[in-house]
Order: sequence, then C-alpha cells, then structure tokens
Amino acid sequence: MADTKRTATLTLDGKTYDLPVLSPTVGPDVLDIRKLYAQADVFTYDPGFTSTAACDSAITYIDGDKGELLYRGYPIEQLADKSHYLEVCYLLLNGELPNKAQMADFEGRITRHTMLHEQIHNFFRGFRRDSHPMATMVGVVGAMSAFYHDSLDINDPWQREVAAMRMIAKLPTIAAMAYKYSIGQPFVYPRNDLDYASNFLHMCFSVPAETYTVQPALAKAMDRIMMLHADHEQNASTSTVRLAGSSGANPFACIAAGIACLWGPAHGGANQACLEMLREIGTVDRIPEFIARAKDKNDPFKLMGFGHRVYKNFDPRAKVMKESADEVLDLLGVHNNPLLQVAKELEQIALHDEYFIEKKLYPNVDFYSGIILEAMGFPTSMFTPIFALSRTVGWISQWKEMISDPAGKIGRPRQLYTGAVARDYLEVENR
Ligand code: SDX
Repeated sequence: MADTKRTATLTLDGKTYDLPVLSPTVGPDVLDIRKLYAQADVFTYDPGFTSTAACDSAITYIDGDKGELLYRGYPIEQLADKSHYLEVCYLLLNGELPNKAQMADFEGRITRHTMLHEQIHNFFRGFRRDSHPMATMVGVVGAMSAFYHDSLDINDPWQREVAAMRMIAKLPTIAAMAYKYSIGQPFVYPRNDLDYASNFLHMCFSVPAETYTVQPALAKAMDRIMMLHADHEQNASTSTVRLAGSSGANPFACIAAGIACLWGPAHGGANQACLEMLREIGTVDRIPEFIARAKDKNDPFKLMGFGHRVYKNFDPRAKVMKESADEVLDLLGVHNNPLLQVAKELEQIALHDEYFIEKKLYPNVDFYSGIILEAMGFPTSMFTPIFALSRTVGWISQWKEMISDPAGKIGRPRQLYTGAVARDYLEVENR
C-alpha cells in the first residue's frame, strides 16, 4: 500500500517534512500524516472529515463522480439484479461470494438465530407505545449485551462470529417487534420456512387472527432494499461503530451506537424526513415554493433525499430504488400515487435547476425508498429501522475488519482549541 518512492513535502516555518503517499487499489492517493504531530508539532484540521481517510478498508468502494458503488468489488447494480441480501451479507463479511454449500450453511445459521431470548420481550414493555421504533431498537440492541454473555469477548474470533450471526439474524425480529409494539399488536415469531425478507414482512404484517401470505414480488423488493442499504464506506454511523469498537466496547454496544447515529435526519433518518417533506409539498404546483426554500441561505430547510457527501452524481442506489418503486406501485395498483408523482416532478425540476446543478445535488438512496416502504404498508417511523436492520451487516463487517487489525488503536481525534488559556479561580465575591 505504501508507495515509499512517492512523498509529499510540507514546508512550515522554514522546515520541510516528507509525508509518505499511500496508494489504494482504486480511488485517491492518501498522505500519511501519522507522524506529522511528532515531527512538526502541528495537527491537521478537518471537522467533517471531508478530506480525511480514517482507516483503510477492503469492503466497500464509492466513486462519487461516476456514481459507482462496489461491495467487495462487485457493482451494486449487478448485485441488486442477480444476488440477494443474505448472499450480500456473506460477501461483505467474508470478502468473496459463497459457493452453494457455503450459502446453505450461512443461511441455515442465520435462520436458526432469528428468535430472541424470551425474556427480552420484557424490554419492549418498558417503552411507551408511542416511542419511536428507533428508540426501542437502540435500547433493545444495546441490552443484548446484558443477555448474550457468550459473545462479548471481542478478542475471541469465535465470539465475534457468534455476535455477528446473532445480530444479522435478530435485527429484523427486533425491528418487527418494535413495530408491533407501537401498534398494540402481539409479537409475531419468526418462521424458519421463510427467506429473510419474507420473514421480516411476515413478522411485521401477519396477525394471529388470520393467515398472512407474503407476496413474492414484495419480498423481492424488500430484499433489494436491504441489499442497497447494506454498506457504504465510512459514513457517519459506520464511523460511529468503528470509533466505539476501537475502545474495545462489546459488539452489541457498538451496533447500538451505530443505530443511534443513523437516526439523524441528515443520515438514515432522511427517508422518513423525505416522505414527510413530499407529504408537506402535497401537490406538484407547490414544488417551486420548496425549491426556493431549499435555495434560501436563511432557511435551514433542505430538500430531503437530495445531496450526498460523496456522490456528486446520481446515487446508483437511487436509480435501482426508482425502478423498484415503479414495480411495487404497479404491483399494488397504486399507479397514480400522488407522492410518487410529486417525487418524480421534484426530481426533474431539481435536476434542471442551476442551484442543484452547481452544487451537484442529486437524489440519494433515501429519495425513493420511503415511497416503496409506504406503499408496502409501513408507517414512516419504520423507514429508518429498516435502514438500520439492513446496515447491520455493513457495520459488523467494518467492525470485524477493524478489530482484526493488529495495528488497531483507540480512535482519539485532537482539536483546534479556541477556548480560554489557563487562568486562576475567581472567588464568587470578586466576579
Ligand atoms: C445517507 O455518508 C453516507 O454514505 C450516507 C448514506 C449511507 O448509505 O450511509 O449514503 C445515507 O445519509 C444519505 C444522505 C441522506 N440525507 C439527506 O437526504 C438529507 C439532505 N441532504 C443534506 O443534508 C446533505 O446533502 C448531506 C448531509 C447529505 C451532505 O451534506 P454535506 O456533504 O456536508 O454537504 P453540505 O451540507 O456542505 O452541502 C454543500 C452545499 C451547501 O450549500 P453551501 O453552504 O455550499 O452554500 O449544498 C447545499 C448546502 O446547503 N445542500 C443542500 C442540500 N444538501 C446540500 N441544499 C438543499 N437541499 C439539500 N438536500
């Protein structure tokens, strides 16, 4: 990785410092500044990490200018077309696509870990019924460390493996239980005869009073949504999981931290915020008013589902999601869904507006996902939990990659201090 021949030279106060240039397999070179503070007594400054590589990773690669997303080198479009979520889970965790025997073993292990310890059901009953399901998920996933004591030791590869399997298997069950609890319906147990996505729909939408049959086309759309959300380089929630994991925190605590971070409307909460925005816009004729607000510097309003730190072209996931939206709405016979009409018109208007063109703001993964999920019958409060359960494999893959790095260190950023210099305490009568 290190290109020992190439260095960058920094000149500061008449002294020069050589910074090694590290070259990736694909993407921008990086300047290795690990020794800079020791050599030059200066920090670098990059609060939003816009120009900073916090780690090296072999899992996911994004080319923001091309609108390219690769999971272990495989383009997301090909995986969305030919693969399925659990196969993508195996790929992200292990680095290669599984053969038939490996896939059968992996799917069998996940399937047999989908139930939760029965006593964990009590955790849900401590929450108000109107709690946001993300609050419940953060609480219950964090509390898994109070139950599964045989998979907490991060230094034991087997325990790391068991924790990974448990979370990939159980997150859909937890998300479905959070949903059922919020609508006052009984929890529905997972079924081992259903595939991963069908099982999730079954646990969300079946009731004891009648038979529920999962529509295969909806299960396929759900599976595709999970695939599209599985991993995405060092986004805010993945970076949260890595930072939490760097202290040696147990895997359940790290994933709970990732769920908490994903909840923000600038990140995974954008799918809920986007649908709420489309609903607020209501009709096509009100779109210009919202475009004007998005452009107004004095208005904090942002067009939810648009823009991305990395993609300065179409988010490839949004393209796939848009196709799914058309398929699902056709299947459900909601062709003239007013929200979809507003979304499509908003997309066209925004893509031709000079503000969005100049700032390279394109629809992202969250722009169409909410429309599909709403058409499937999910309330907006369940959109981010579905993002969270889908991203769990990405968080865990990144966490495993970090933990198994022998050179790993606790993450401990420095700062540009702008506060008071040292001063003596002032007695209250002298203030
Ligand atoms: C996800 O990181 C990931 O990979 C995340 C994710 C993943 O899979 O993990 O892809 C998932 O989080 C997708 C993003 C979902 N969020 C939204 O849709 C919320 C709306 N988008 C914005 O909040 C924003 O675009 C961000 C947060 C996504 C990106 O913000 P950046 O990279 O910090 O960019 P910025 O805020 O500096 O914006 C650059 C300019 C600014 O204007 P100027 O200060 O240069 O004048 O573009 C403007 C912004 O005001 N801008 C927008 C806008 N997004 C950016 N203006 C209007 N509407 C928007 N949506």
